Amino acid sequence: MSKIPVIIDVDTGIDDAMALVLALQADKLDIRGITTVAGNQTIEKTTRNTLDVVEYFGRSEIPVAMGAKQPLIRPQVIAAYAHGESGLGTAVLPKAEKMPDELDAVSFIKKVLEESEEQITLVPTGPLTNIAILLKAYPHIKNKIKEIVLMGGGAFGGNYNAAAEFNIYADPEAAQIVFNSGVKLVMCGLDVTLKATVTPEDIDTIRAIGNKAGDFIAEAVEFYMAMYKRNPNFTGCAIHDAVTITYLIAPELIKTRQGIARVDIDGRDSYAATICDFRPWRDREKDNALVCVDIDREAFVKLLVEACKNY
Ligand code: RIB
Ligand code: CA
Repeated sequence: MSKIPVIIDVDTGIDDAMALVLALQADKLDIRGITTVAGNQTIEKTTRNTLDVVEYFGRSEIPVAMGAKQPLIRPQVIAAYAHGESGLGTAVLPKAEKMPDELDAVSFIKKVLEESEEQITLVPTGPLTNIAILLKAYPHIKNKIKEIVLMGGGAFGGNYNAAAEFNIYADPEAAQIVFNSGVKLVMCGLDVTLKATVTPEDIDTIRAIGNKAGDFIAEAVEFYMAMYKRNPNFTGCAIHDAVTITYLIAPELIKTRQGIARVDIDGRDSYAATICDFRPWRDREKDNALVCVDIDREAFVKLLVEACKNY
């Protein structure tokens, strides 16, 4: 089985960490590197968390390169309300000995892409600042990118506000650069990720595994779940970022629609919305995205549980 070469760009955060727990044990993935960006927390904290997760789960051979500290243009927003002051809720991991790579994230991705004989899939699960800088500074590099499988956006609304999903809202100008780049996108937006939920009963199952992965996820999700419980229609918390990895290792679990996806940076109430055109009579030559719209939730949870058992 040929592995899928990937570079994962994270703002670790609780669901980023769960995406990493899924990715780090996935036989189908050849993880060439992990890069960090500010988003859920500051760049120092997202990088700290990423180093700790990678080492704790036994993959310290994978380089981790530190990226953008701030969005391109707009003032920074972070999501401490969802991920806590550390970025991992109340979960505490041993401080990794592993240090960030000597290269910054963009230089690291450029180097890995240029040196790779095959195209590489980029998997951003945070604001798209690093990816936008890469595409603007080194446009020639596009031919080494197979596709960008990103967590972000929503065809039918947002979560940070009515129109915008957090990763896009945190750096809309970067997102527009990526969406308009011509690189094939797989958009794992809220349309699918809000269906990729784990219930308290699922967390009990994960905790009952009784190993380091189950214990870590059960602890980290507690903080995250508390935020979701404020929703009167609470059914569980959405593990947004893990959907990108699921798309790569178990694409049969996910339903997609092809269309034209754009980012609005000019509107007032619609600022940072992802506008998805699925109209049958659209100019299909302009299709730039596979938009994920549904997931087999039960199978998704089973994938997470089985991944935890592998540690
Ligand atoms: O809107 C969900 C996204 O915002 C996820 O990537 C989560 O980690 C936060 O960054
Ligand atoms: Ca994230």
